[in-house]
Amino acid sequence: MQISHNISLKNYNTFGIDAKARHFISVNNLPELISVLQLKDYPNKLMLGGGSNMLLTKDVDALVIHVNLKGATIIKEDTNHAFIKASAGENWHEFVLWCLDNNFGGLENMSLIPGNVGTSPIQNIGAYGVELKDHFVSCEALNLETLEIEIFKNENCNFGYRNSVFKNEAKNKYIIINVVFKLTKKEHQLHTNYGAIISQLEEMQIKTPTIKDVSNAVIAIRQSKLPDPKKIGNSGSFFKNPIIPIEVFEKLKQNFPKAPSYPVTDNTVKVPAGWLIETAGFKGKTFGNYGVHKNQALVLVNYGGAKGKDILELSKLIQKTIYRIFNISIEAEVNIL
Ligand code: EPU
Repeated sequence: MQISHNISLKNYNTFGIDAKARHFISVNNLPELISVLQLKDYPNKLMLGGGSNMLLTKDVDALVIHVNLKGATIIKEDTNHAFIKASAGENWHEFVLWCLDNNFGGLENMSLIPGNVGTSPIQNIGAYGVELKDHFVSCEALNLETLEIEIFKNENCNFGYRNSVFKNEAKNKYIIINVVFKLTKKEHQLHTNYGAIISQLEEMQIKTPTIKDVSNAVIAIRQSKLPDPKKIGNSGSFFKNPIIPIEVFEKLKQNFPKAPSYPVTDNTVKVPAGWLIETAGFKGKTFGNYGVHKNQALVLVNYGGAKGKDILELSKLIQKTIYRIFNISIEAEVNIL
Protein backbone atom coordinates (compact mmCIF):
# COMPACT_ATOMS: atom_id res chain seq x y z
CA MET A 1 0.00 0.00 0.00
CA GLN A 2 1.72 3.14 -1.16
CA ILE A 3 0.64 6.74 -1.39
CA SER A 4 1.88 8.64 -4.47
CA HIS A 5 1.94 12.42 -4.79
CA ASN A 6 1.05 14.86 -7.58
CA ILE A 7 -0.32 12.15 -9.82
CA SER A 8 -2.16 12.94 -13.06
CA LEU A 9 -5.74 11.65 -13.03
CA LYS A 10 -5.91 11.64 -16.85
CA ASN A 11 -6.22 7.84 -17.01
CA TYR A 12 -8.66 7.72 -14.12
CA ASN A 13 -11.47 9.84 -15.61
CA THR A 14 -13.22 8.99 -18.87
CA PHE A 15 -13.26 12.70 -19.86
CA GLY A 16 -9.46 12.35 -19.99
CA ILE A 17 -8.93 15.62 -18.12
CA ASP A 18 -5.33 16.09 -17.06
CA ALA A 19 -5.94 17.31 -13.49
CA LYS A 20 -3.65 16.24 -10.67
CA ALA A 21 -4.33 14.50 -7.39
CA ARG A 22 -2.27 15.94 -4.53
CA HIS A 23 -2.09 12.40 -3.10
CA PHE A 24 -3.26 9.11 -4.60
CA ILE A 25 -3.66 5.51 -3.55
CA SER A 26 -5.30 2.46 -5.08
CA VAL A 27 -6.84 -0.01 -2.62
CA ASN A 28 -7.46 -3.67 -3.46
CA ASN A 29 -9.37 -4.95 -0.45
CA LEU A 30 -11.55 -3.85 2.44
CA PRO A 31 -8.88 -3.92 5.22
CA GLU A 32 -6.63 -1.71 3.03
CA LEU A 33 -9.49 0.69 2.43
CA ILE A 34 -10.25 0.93 6.15
CA SER A 35 -6.62 1.57 7.08
CA VAL A 36 -6.36 4.32 4.43
CA LEU A 37 -9.51 5.96 5.78
CA GLN A 38 -7.95 5.93 9.26
CA LEU A 39 -4.89 7.92 8.12
CA LYS A 40 -4.96 11.14 10.11
CA ASP A 41 -2.41 12.98 7.93
CA TYR A 42 -4.88 13.20 5.05
CA PRO A 43 -8.08 14.80 6.31
CA ASN A 44 -9.50 15.42 2.80
CA LYS A 45 -10.31 12.28 0.90
CA LEU A 46 -12.01 11.68 -2.43
CA MET A 47 -13.29 8.27 -3.57
CA LEU A 48 -12.79 7.35 -7.17
CA GLY A 49 -14.48 4.48 -9.01
CA GLY A 50 -14.41 4.26 -12.79
CA GLY A 51 -14.24 8.07 -13.11
CA SER A 52 -16.99 7.91 -15.72
CA ASN A 53 -19.40 10.43 -14.28
CA MET A 54 -17.19 13.31 -13.23
CA LEU A 55 -15.72 16.49 -14.67
CA LEU A 56 -12.48 17.60 -13.01
CA THR A 57 -12.33 21.39 -13.21
CA LYS A 58 -9.22 21.75 -11.04
CA ASP A 59 -6.48 19.77 -9.32
CA VAL A 60 -7.78 17.71 -6.42
CA ASP A 61 -6.25 18.87 -3.15
CA ALA A 62 -7.03 15.63 -1.29
CA LEU A 63 -6.04 12.00 -0.96
CA VAL A 64 -7.74 10.35 -3.94
CA ILE A 65 -8.65 6.76 -3.08
CA HIS A 66 -9.07 4.54 -6.11
CA VAL A 67 -11.45 1.75 -5.09
CA ASN A 68 -10.10 -1.31 -6.90
CA LEU A 69 -11.93 -4.16 -5.15
CA LYS A 70 -12.39 -7.09 -7.56
CA GLY A 71 -14.45 -10.27 -7.88
CA ALA A 72 -17.92 -11.59 -8.73
CA THR A 73 -19.52 -14.71 -7.25
CA ILE A 74 -22.87 -16.50 -7.15
CA ILE A 75 -24.12 -16.31 -3.57
CA LYS A 76 -27.52 -17.97 -3.96
CA GLU A 77 -29.52 -19.74 -6.65
CA ASP A 78 -32.99 -21.08 -7.26
CA THR A 79 -34.41 -22.77 -10.36
CA ASN A 80 -34.67 -19.60 -12.38
CA HIS A 81 -32.54 -17.02 -10.55
CA ALA A 82 -28.95 -16.43 -9.59
CA PHE A 83 -27.96 -13.86 -6.98
CA ILE A 84 -24.57 -12.44 -7.91
CA LYS A 85 -22.38 -10.37 -5.62
CA ALA A 86 -19.95 -8.18 -7.55
CA SER A 87 -17.19 -6.05 -6.01
CA ALA A 88 -17.21 -2.29 -6.45
CA GLY A 89 -14.03 -2.08 -8.56
CA GLU A 90 -15.27 -4.43 -11.28
CA ASN A 91 -15.63 -2.67 -14.62
CA TRP A 92 -19.36 -2.48 -15.37
CA HIS A 93 -19.27 -3.69 -18.98
CA GLU A 94 -16.84 -6.54 -18.22
CA PHE A 95 -19.20 -7.62 -15.44
CA VAL A 96 -22.16 -7.54 -17.86
CA LEU A 97 -20.19 -9.68 -20.33
CA TRP A 98 -19.28 -12.14 -17.53
CA CYS A 99 -23.00 -12.44 -16.69
CA LEU A 100 -23.84 -13.10 -20.35
CA ASP A 101 -21.07 -15.71 -20.66
CA ASN A 102 -22.68 -17.48 -17.71
CA ASN A 103 -26.14 -17.05 -19.25
CA PHE A 104 -27.39 -14.76 -16.45
CA GLY A 105 -29.97 -12.39 -17.90
CA GLY A 106 -31.12 -8.90 -16.94
CA LEU A 107 -28.25 -6.49 -17.50
CA GLU A 108 -27.90 -6.89 -21.29
CA ASN A 109 -29.64 -3.58 -22.16
CA MET A 110 -27.03 -1.83 -20.00
CA SER A 111 -24.08 -3.20 -22.01
CA LEU A 112 -21.19 -0.84 -22.65
CA ILE A 113 -22.13 1.75 -20.01
CA PRO A 114 -18.82 3.17 -18.80
CA GLY A 115 -17.91 3.02 -15.11
CA ASN A 116 -17.66 0.46 -12.33
CA VAL A 117 -20.09 -1.74 -10.41
CA GLY A 118 -19.61 0.27 -7.21
CA THR A 119 -20.78 3.55 -8.69
CA SER A 120 -23.66 2.08 -10.71
CA PRO A 121 -26.27 2.47 -7.91
CA ILE A 122 -25.32 6.09 -7.16
CA GLN A 123 -27.00 7.42 -10.28
CA ASN A 124 -29.12 4.32 -10.94
CA ILE A 125 -27.57 3.81 -14.37
CA GLY A 126 -29.94 2.89 -17.14
CA ALA A 127 -30.27 2.45 -20.87
CA TYR A 128 -32.76 1.21 -23.45
CA GLY A 129 -35.67 0.71 -21.09
CA VAL A 130 -33.83 -0.98 -18.19
CA GLU A 131 -32.44 0.58 -15.03
CA LEU A 132 -30.06 -0.80 -12.43
CA LYS A 133 -32.86 -0.74 -9.84
CA ASP A 134 -34.72 -3.43 -11.81
CA HIS A 135 -32.06 -6.01 -10.86
CA PHE A 136 -30.46 -4.51 -7.75
CA VAL A 137 -31.12 -6.51 -4.56
CA SER A 138 -28.82 -4.77 -2.08
CA CYS A 139 -25.37 -3.34 -1.60
CA GLU A 140 -22.86 -3.26 1.22
CA ALA A 141 -21.51 0.20 1.94
CA LEU A 142 -18.81 1.33 4.33
CA ASN A 143 -19.96 4.11 6.63
CA LEU A 144 -17.14 6.67 6.48
CA GLU A 145 -17.80 7.87 10.00
CA THR A 146 -18.13 4.57 11.89
CA LEU A 147 -16.07 2.48 9.40
CA GLU A 148 -18.74 -0.18 9.69
CA ILE A 149 -20.46 -1.98 6.85
CA GLU A 150 -24.15 -1.20 6.37
CA ILE A 151 -26.54 -2.98 4.04
CA PHE A 152 -28.79 -0.95 1.75
CA LYS A 153 -31.70 -2.94 0.35
CA ASN A 154 -33.38 -1.88 -2.89
CA GLU A 155 -36.28 -0.25 -1.06
CA ASN A 156 -33.90 1.85 1.08
CA CYS A 157 -32.04 3.30 -1.90
CA ASN A 158 -34.84 5.64 -3.07
CA PHE A 159 -33.97 4.92 -6.68
CA GLY A 160 -35.31 7.39 -9.24
CA TYR A 161 -34.34 8.59 -12.70
CA ARG A 162 -30.53 8.92 -12.50
CA ASN A 163 -30.96 9.33 -8.74
CA SER A 164 -30.64 7.48 -5.41
CA VAL A 165 -30.09 7.98 -1.69
CA PHE A 166 -26.34 8.08 -2.49
CA LYS A 167 -26.84 11.37 -4.34
CA ASN A 168 -28.93 12.79 -1.49
CA GLU A 169 -29.05 11.96 2.25
CA ALA A 170 -26.18 9.45 2.01
CA LYS A 171 -24.01 11.63 -0.26
CA ASN A 172 -20.29 11.47 0.65
CA LYS A 173 -21.10 9.38 3.72
CA TYR A 174 -20.55 5.88 2.32
CA ILE A 175 -18.37 3.90 -0.03
CA ILE A 176 -20.15 1.12 -1.83
CA ILE A 177 -18.13 -2.09 -1.45
CA ASN A 178 -20.20 -4.55 -3.46
CA VAL A 179 -23.60 -4.96 -5.11
CA VAL A 180 -25.92 -7.98 -5.22
CA PHE A 181 -27.96 -8.48 -8.40
CA LYS A 182 -30.87 -10.83 -9.04
CA LEU A 183 -30.58 -12.24 -12.55
CA THR A 184 -32.42 -14.90 -14.53
CA LYS A 185 -30.92 -18.30 -15.45
CA LYS A 186 -33.61 -19.25 -17.98
CA GLU A 187 -36.97 -17.69 -18.85
CA HIS A 188 -35.08 -14.47 -19.55
CA GLN A 189 -37.30 -11.40 -19.85
CA LEU A 190 -36.08 -9.52 -22.87
CA HIS A 191 -36.70 -5.77 -23.20
CA THR A 192 -36.56 -5.19 -26.91
CA ASN A 193 -39.44 -2.74 -27.18
CA TYR A 194 -37.12 0.28 -27.24
CA GLY A 195 -37.29 1.43 -30.88
CA ALA A 196 -33.61 1.35 -31.71
CA ILE A 197 -33.21 -2.22 -30.39
CA ILE A 198 -36.03 -3.61 -32.54
CA SER A 199 -34.62 -2.09 -35.71
CA GLN A 200 -31.06 -3.13 -34.84
CA LEU A 201 -32.16 -6.76 -34.30
CA GLU A 202 -34.02 -6.64 -37.61
CA GLU A 203 -30.90 -5.34 -39.29
CA MET A 204 -28.95 -8.20 -37.71
CA GLN A 205 -31.68 -10.54 -39.07
CA ILE A 206 -32.42 -11.97 -35.63
CA LYS A 207 -36.01 -13.07 -35.05
CA THR A 208 -35.77 -14.86 -31.69
CA PRO A 209 -33.06 -12.98 -29.85
CA THR A 210 -31.02 -14.33 -26.93
CA ILE A 211 -29.71 -12.10 -24.13
CA LYS A 212 -26.36 -12.04 -25.95
CA ASP A 213 -28.11 -10.84 -29.15
CA VAL A 214 -29.78 -8.00 -27.24
CA SER A 215 -26.40 -7.06 -25.75
CA ASN A 216 -24.82 -7.09 -29.22
CA ALA A 217 -27.64 -4.89 -30.55
CA VAL A 218 -27.17 -2.40 -27.69
CA ILE A 219 -23.40 -2.38 -28.27
CA ALA A 220 -23.94 -1.65 -31.98
CA ILE A 221 -26.39 1.19 -31.22
CA ARG A 222 -24.14 2.74 -28.59
CA GLN A 223 -21.08 2.49 -30.82
CA SER A 224 -22.92 4.25 -33.64
CA LYS A 225 -24.08 7.15 -31.45
CA LEU A 226 -21.79 7.51 -28.48
CA PRO A 227 -18.07 8.26 -28.59
CA ASP A 228 -15.71 5.61 -27.15
CA PRO A 229 -14.09 7.26 -24.10
CA LYS A 230 -10.83 5.46 -24.95
CA LYS A 231 -10.68 7.47 -28.17
CA ILE A 232 -12.57 10.70 -27.37
CA GLY A 233 -12.86 11.81 -23.75
CA ASN A 234 -16.46 12.02 -22.53
CA SER A 235 -18.72 11.19 -19.65
CA GLY A 236 -21.78 9.85 -21.46
CA SER A 237 -24.85 12.04 -21.10
CA PHE A 238 -23.68 15.30 -19.58
CA PHE A 239 -27.22 16.43 -18.71
CA LYS A 240 -30.33 14.70 -17.41
CA ASN A 241 -33.45 14.75 -19.55
CA PRO A 242 -35.70 17.37 -17.93
CA ILE A 243 -39.07 16.28 -16.54
CA ILE A 244 -41.65 19.04 -17.00
CA PRO A 245 -45.40 19.55 -16.43
CA ILE A 246 -47.60 18.64 -19.38
CA GLU A 247 -48.95 22.24 -19.60
CA VAL A 248 -45.41 23.54 -20.08
CA PHE A 249 -44.83 20.92 -22.77
CA GLU A 250 -48.09 21.87 -24.54
CA LYS A 251 -46.86 25.47 -24.70
CA LEU A 252 -43.51 24.32 -26.05
CA LYS A 253 -45.36 22.34 -28.77
CA GLN A 254 -47.04 25.52 -30.00
CA ASN A 255 -43.64 26.91 -31.00
CA PHE A 256 -41.91 23.59 -31.69
CA PRO A 257 -44.52 21.16 -33.03
CA LYS A 258 -41.89 18.41 -33.50
CA ALA A 259 -40.72 18.43 -29.87
CA PRO A 260 -40.45 14.80 -28.67
CA SER A 261 -41.52 13.64 -25.20
CA TYR A 262 -41.98 10.49 -23.11
CA PRO A 263 -44.72 10.17 -20.48
CA VAL A 264 -43.49 10.01 -16.86
CA THR A 265 -46.62 10.47 -14.73
CA ASP A 266 -50.19 11.55 -15.54
CA ASN A 267 -49.13 15.20 -15.51
CA THR A 268 -45.42 15.20 -16.37
CA VAL A 269 -43.32 14.30 -19.40
CA LYS A 270 -39.63 13.84 -20.06
CA VAL A 271 -38.17 15.88 -22.92
CA PRO A 272 -34.92 14.58 -24.46
CA ALA A 273 -32.22 17.12 -23.58
CA GLY A 274 -30.42 15.93 -26.73
CA TRP A 275 -33.27 17.36 -28.82
CA LEU A 276 -33.23 20.68 -26.93
CA ILE A 277 -29.46 21.00 -27.39
CA GLU A 278 -29.61 20.02 -31.05
CA THR A 279 -32.48 22.43 -31.74
CA ALA A 280 -30.51 25.19 -30.00
CA GLY A 281 -27.79 24.60 -32.61
CA PHE A 282 -25.05 23.06 -30.48
CA LYS A 283 -24.89 19.55 -31.94
CA GLY A 284 -21.43 18.86 -33.43
CA LYS A 285 -20.11 22.33 -32.49
CA THR A 286 -16.43 22.36 -31.57
CA PHE A 287 -14.63 24.98 -29.53
CA GLY A 288 -10.96 24.18 -30.16
CA ASN A 289 -10.23 20.94 -28.34
CA TYR A 290 -13.69 20.34 -26.86
CA GLY A 291 -17.29 20.45 -27.97
CA VAL A 292 -20.66 18.76 -28.39
CA HIS A 293 -20.67 15.29 -29.97
CA LYS A 294 -21.81 15.12 -33.59
CA ASN A 295 -24.07 12.06 -33.16
CA GLN A 296 -25.59 12.68 -29.71
CA ALA A 297 -25.97 16.27 -28.51
CA LEU A 298 -26.28 15.18 -24.88
CA VAL A 299 -22.60 14.22 -24.81
CA LEU A 300 -19.85 16.80 -24.32
CA VAL A 301 -16.43 15.73 -25.52
CA ASN A 302 -12.74 16.41 -24.93
CA TYR A 303 -10.83 15.97 -28.21
CA GLY A 304 -7.57 15.97 -26.25
CA GLY A 305 -5.98 18.41 -23.85
CA ALA A 306 -9.16 20.33 -22.94
CA LYS A 307 -9.46 21.86 -19.48
CA GLY A 308 -12.35 20.79 -17.29
CA LYS A 309 -13.28 24.40 -16.63
CA ASP A 310 -13.69 25.09 -20.36
CA ILE A 311 -16.12 22.17 -20.63
CA LEU A 312 -17.93 23.45 -17.54
CA GLU A 313 -18.26 26.90 -19.19
CA LEU A 314 -19.65 25.27 -22.34
CA SER A 315 -22.18 23.34 -20.24
CA LYS A 316 -23.30 26.61 -18.60
CA LEU A 317 -23.64 28.30 -21.98
CA ILE A 318 -25.80 25.40 -23.17
CA GLN A 319 -27.97 25.58 -20.03
CA LYS A 320 -28.44 29.35 -20.41
CA THR A 321 -29.26 29.11 -24.11
CA ILE A 322 -31.77 26.28 -23.55
CA TYR A 323 -33.44 28.34 -20.83
CA ARG A 324 -33.58 31.40 -23.06
CA ILE A 325 -35.05 29.56 -26.04
CA PHE A 326 -37.34 27.02 -24.36
CA ASN A 327 -37.76 28.31 -20.81
CA ILE A 328 -36.63 24.87 -19.57
CA SER A 329 -33.81 24.26 -17.08
CA ILE A 330 -31.52 21.31 -17.73
CA GLU A 331 -29.45 19.88 -14.94
CA ALA A 332 -25.96 18.31 -15.22
CA GLU A 333 -25.92 14.56 -14.66
CA VAL A 334 -22.14 14.52 -14.28
CA ASN A 335 -20.53 15.44 -10.91
CA ILE A 336 -18.52 18.64 -11.21
CA LEU A 337 -15.39 18.60 -9.07
N1 EPU B 1 -32.27 13.49 -29.67
C1 EPU B 1 -32.06 14.50 -30.58
N2 EPU B 1 -30.77 14.87 -30.86
C2 EPU B 1 -29.71 14.27 -30.29
C3 EPU B 1 -29.92 13.25 -29.33
C4 EPU B 1 -31.20 12.87 -29.05
O1 EPU B 1 -33.00 15.07 -31.13
O2 EPU B 1 -28.56 14.67 -30.60
C5 EPU B 1 -33.66 13.08 -29.34
C6 EPU B 1 -34.30 12.21 -30.38
O3 EPU B 1 -35.69 12.55 -30.44
C7 EPU B 1 -34.15 10.82 -29.84
C8 EPU B 1 -34.32 11.09 -28.36
O4 EPU B 1 -33.68 12.33 -28.14
O5 EPU B 1 -35.13 9.94 -30.30
C9 EPU B 1 -33.72 10.04 -27.45
O6 EPU B 1 -32.34 9.85 -27.73
P1 EPU B 1 -31.55 8.58 -27.17
O7 EPU B 1 -32.28 7.32 -27.47
O8 EPU B 1 -30.14 8.69 -27.64
O9 EPU B 1 -31.66 8.73 -25.59
P2 EPU B 1 -31.40 9.97 -24.61
O10 EPU B 1 -32.65 10.27 -23.88
O11 EPU B 1 -30.72 11.08 -25.32
C10 EPU B 1 -30.88 8.39 -22.57
C11 EPU B 1 -29.80 8.22 -21.55
C12 EPU B 1 -28.59 7.50 -22.15
C13 EPU B 1 -29.05 6.15 -22.68
C14 EPU B 1 -30.16 6.38 -23.72
C15 EPU B 1 -30.75 5.09 -24.23
C16 EPU B 1 -30.09 10.07 -20.02
C17 EPU B 1 -29.55 11.35 -19.49
N3 EPU B 1 -29.40 9.51 -21.01
O12 EPU B 1 -30.37 9.27 -23.58
O13 EPU B 1 -27.67 7.27 -21.11
O14 EPU B 1 -27.96 5.45 -23.28
O15 EPU B 1 -31.24 7.13 -23.11
O16 EPU B 1 -31.52 4.51 -23.23
O17 EPU B 1 -31.11 9.60 -19.53
C18 EPU B 1 -25.76 8.12 -19.97
O18 EPU B 1 -26.47 8.24 -18.98
O19 EPU B 1 -24.54 8.43 -19.96
C19 EPU B 1 -26.35 7.65 -21.23
C20 EPU B 1 -25.66 7.60 -22.37
